[in-house]
Amino acid sequence: MKSYKLAIVGATGVVGRTALKVLEEKNLPISEYVLFASKRSCGTKLHFMGKNYEVRELTETSFDEGFDFAIFSAGGDTAKKFAPIAASKGCIVVDNSSAFRMEKDVPLVVPEVNPEEIKNHRGIIANPNCSTIQAVVALKPLDTKYHIKRIVYSTYQAVSGAGSKGIYDLENGIHNFESKQECTKNNEQNYELQKFPYPIFNNCLPHIDIFLENGYTKEEEKMINETRKILKRPDLKITATTVRVPVFNSHSESINVEFEKDFDLEELVLTLKNAPNVIVQDDVKNNIYPLATNATGHDEVFVGRIRRDKSVKSGVNLWIVADNIRKGAASNAIQIVEKLIDFDNN
Ligand code: A2P
Repeated sequence: MKSYKLAIVGATGVVGRTALKVLEEKNLPISEYVLFASKRSCGTKLHFMGKNYEVRELTETSFDEGFDFAIFSAGGDTAKKFAPIAASKGCIVVDNSSAFRMEKDVPLVVPEVNPEEIKNHRGIIANPNCSTIQAVVALKPLDTKYHIKRIVYSTYQAVSGAGSKGIYDLENGIHNFESKQECTKNNEQNYELQKFPYPIFNNCLPHIDIFLENGYTKEEEKMINETRKILKRPDLKITATTVRVPVFNSHSESINVEFEKDFDLEELVLTLKNAPNVIVQDDVKNNIYPLATNATGHDEVFVGRIRRDKSVKSGVNLWIVADNIRKGAASNAIQIVEKLIDFDNN
């Protein structure tokens, strides 16, 4: 088998560091790794694959030395500037930001759902939004079998999805609360927020990414548009409310799905059980259902609370949980690289 060279852009960030961990767990035929971040991190040492890697500053000439693949987890602005440069030098870029996701010629890929789209693809491949990835892994087999008519998404999203600054805001909120006298404990804030407009500790913020003219947030629009693109259902009826909650890691989602076709509930559960990388955890008599704390550290998508929606002719409610930094970002990107390597060798 051939051996490849991979760049990790944004290696010092939350997703980048997790990508390094996931790569260590896998045995990919990659002989050379180069770690990039901003000027701020230039010279930082990261322990990876048993040795210390010095982080390099990402510049316009970074890709001149030639790379097979690059995983970008450095935000939209960095991706817009540097991903096209990398691609122009023959590197296949898997970008975690939303910069290219809706571009017509950019495949938006979840390996369990639409891997065929990256066969022979060169240039930029987009990694979908974290909330969308975990939803479509479970929804794709149901769409194939029962043809989805409408989806209502309600999300409970962890702060890790907002990067290191989101994690600091929750940590600082907790420390602020703990450092107060028991009798004066309230949500009064005496620390600087780095990411969110209000304290995330003790709160739920129905506000992820920016608000748009139509009253939706950009995160909600991303879930709607990306689900349509990945499932190849451009007219699918979808609505979404995305909420940031004081959970460190793993997103939880309540998903209401209406189908064109009738279904048998047992058969639907079996369909989910047989779906790749879906784990059904649904035994309410024993209080078994997916939890953020249990999903963290895993690449599978956990589905539970599977019950018929009695308010419509053919509908179901699902509770779907996954590690947003692993399956929602780092692992999905690495699985895309794995698929590219598979296609290249077969
Ligand atoms: P740095 O650590 O040098 O700022 P997170 O959102 O988890 O904080 O991670 C963002 C990642 O994107 C970090 O690795 C960060 O590097 C990187 N990054 C931000 N801006 C740039 C840039 N202009 N060039 C390269 N990497 C960048």
